[in-house]
Amino acid sequence: MKIKPTKTTAVSPANIAFIKFWGKKDPKINLPYNNSISMNLSNCRTTSTVEFISSLTEDEVVINSKRVDENVSARVSVFLDIIRQWSGVKTKARVCSVNNFPSDAGIASSASAFSALALAGSRAAGLNLSLKKLSILARMGSGSACRSLVDGFGEWWKGTNFDNSYAVQLAKPSYWDLVDVVAVVSADKKKSSSTEGHGVAETSPYFTKRVANLPKRISALKKAFKSRDFDEFGRLIEEEAIDLHVMAMTSHPPIFYLTSGTFAVIEKLKELREKNIKGFFTMDAGPNVHVICRAKDAQTINRTLKKLACVKFTIVNKPCRGTRSTDKHLF
Ligand code: PMV
Repeated sequence: MKIKPTKTTAVSPANIAFIKFWGKKDPKINLPYNNSISMNLSNCRTTSTVEFISSLTEDEVVINSKRVDENVSARVSVFLDIIRQWSGVKTKARVCSVNNFPSDAGIASSASAFSALALAGSRAAGLNLSLKKLSILARMGSGSACRSLVDGFGEWWKGTNFDNSYAVQLAKPSYWDLVDVVAVVSADKKKSSSTEGHGVAETSPYFTKRVANLPKRISALKKAFKSRDFDEFGRLIEEEAIDLHVMAMTSHPPIFYLTSGTFAVIEKLKELREKNIKGFFTMDAGPNVHVICRAKDAQTINRTLKKLACVKFTIVNKPCRGTRSTDKHLF
């Protein structure tokens, strides 16, 4: 359905994957090998304003008040081209985005960025897309972005083609009082992007085994989620995180996302567990540790981790709603 093209702003959360998207079956359309499962993060958000402007001769992309480099600009333009193709809008766009958390440090800034851009860009071009179509569009920008559209907990159905690979809601934000305390051990731009990781994933000798094993792990995780069995849920997300990093480290060339800081946090979590304060780790394509715990333990875990020399700062997140539009424009 068409609406009037107009300047539009969207706010979208990043998400943390409990079951990871790793390796692309079809890189041209970001088709994954497996389903993935995630939770939206209330305190890791991107706000993005888009306007198609007839006087522009090229797309203008500003992120966190800086004009982006050519690579980022090209990636955004390719994404905007899909919107132009779907809507028939021919003009270039001004895009302005701000993150309230460090970009490129393994806190999935591409997920919040492309989900915000999917909603803001499509509405700015006069498209009123369904949640499913928005998820498909966001997937084209960055696979994991397709999961940020839905509220709370999401599952990305891997699908088999362009139209049937998208995310659906697994549960509302209020379903489970989980908290993600992100222990940021480095806020620097990471050396290897997730795109590079996906590109070499299949070269790991363990990759085929991972893909074959995943349906079993996914159904076990869903069972633990359904019964809110936190110990089993935690065991499975740690197993999955380790799996991802084994893939990365055994790829050609190998990629090391984890650092000594990552392991110091993991050690501390083990100590806390001995005192029955339970936090379980998961890491995306970066060194920072997402500690998943119950709300009752979040404060203690946060306070304890902040005291570690390797932890620069923490970000405490609850499950939250997905991408929304707002009238608070950035320009
Ligand atoms: O969406 P991408 O292409 O940046 O890949 C995300 C990869 C991981 O964050 C490591 C896993 C995931 O499913 O979010």
